[in-house]
Amino acid sequence: MKIGILTSGGDCAGLNPVMRAIAKFCYLNIKNTEIVGIPDGYGGLIRGESVCMHEADFENILNQGGTILGTARTPFKMMTVPEEDGETRLERMLANYKKMQLDCLFTLGGAGTHKTAALLSAEGCRVIGLPKTIDNDIYGTDVTFGFHTAVDVATEAIDRVRTTAASHGRTILVEIMGNKAGWLTTYSGIAAGADLVLIPEIPFHLDTVCDAVERTYRKGKSCCIIAVAEGAILDDEAAKKKKERTFIRAERGETTVTAHLAEEIGACTGAETRGTVLGYIQRGGDPSPYDRLLCTRLGSYAAKLAKEGRFGVTAAVSGSAITFNALSDIAGKYKLVDPDSEIVRSAESIGVCFGRK
Ligand code: F6P
Repeated sequence: MKIGILTSGGDCAGLNPVMRAIAKFCYLNIKNTEIVGIPDGYGGLIRGESVCMHEADFENILNQGGTILGTARTPFKMMTVPEEDGETRLERMLANYKKMQLDCLFTLGGAGTHKTAALLSAEGCRVIGLPKTIDNDIYGTDVTFGFHTAVDVATEAIDRVRTTAASHGRTILVEIMGNKAGWLTTYSGIAAGADLVLIPEIPFHLDTVCDAVERTYRKGKSCCIIAVAEGAILDDEAAKKKKERTFIRAERGETTVTAHLAEEIGACTGAETRGTVLGYIQRGGDPSPYDRLLCTRLGSYAAKLAKEGRFGVTAAVSGSAITFNALSDIAGKYKLVDPDSEIVRSAESIGVCFGRK
């Protein structure tokens, strides 16, 4: 069986361990396994590039962050747009899939990657997806690989910020990745004992936020920690399109929601306020033991699906089991934090403010 593997979208911890598990399963359980790595995500497939891999290439990468194949963002909406010579990227990928004589293509990536995987599958390619992202927003899986490593990193970062905040008596906002989904902010914010957690799924009310900051100091606490998702929005911005919000913020000279909030909170509470953006630190570094184990389970399971000839699917976690979903069922959908979920409500029940009016 000739197998292609690609990693697409933003990197995260876990890509290498998943590839290792796929490869180890295939070399051990599928006759005449031949693996090619496709560099830079769908970019490599569009250009028709592949690298012949050997068993040894997959050794000693269980604990390695990033991806040995490289990755890139290749926007889904551009896949069917004709390029200069009239051919679309989709057509190029289909031709190269054939030229490479692949029997199966594993696509490791997030929501965007899954949309393209579904498209390739609908066009007859034998594709199996694997759910990667620190955002944890892939529909149909309880958890994505890379998420829990990022939770560990963000939690430790907030813990570190807390010592500075406490020493200076400051309010510090920590901006955490997640444009559409607030999973990472919710988990790390609660785990690090943040006083406020602001996520895109619950547009926040500025007065509620300022009251919560003041209440924190009134209780006698020496500092206030606010975990803010990069996609958090004010309730009066909620009806606006993302482009419009970005424009309004740019006009105010503030590029991020954190910058805006820091200004506003400082002005209305008088607290010495600072913001810090964790950025790519959350995606980098080595996978946690939790993710190494999850990746081993997901990768070996996906390879078993290939052995059984089950394509057009993506591996998923359901409760304590590993399962799969049809790519066509999950592509284009997102899994977001339910504002009424037990995790949010339990945090609120002990005083964590999500900024609701
Ligand atoms: O997809 C994960 C993610 O980390 C998002 O949370 C974030 O908005 C985005 O990637 C940023 O990625 P990049 O700057 O690499 O395009």
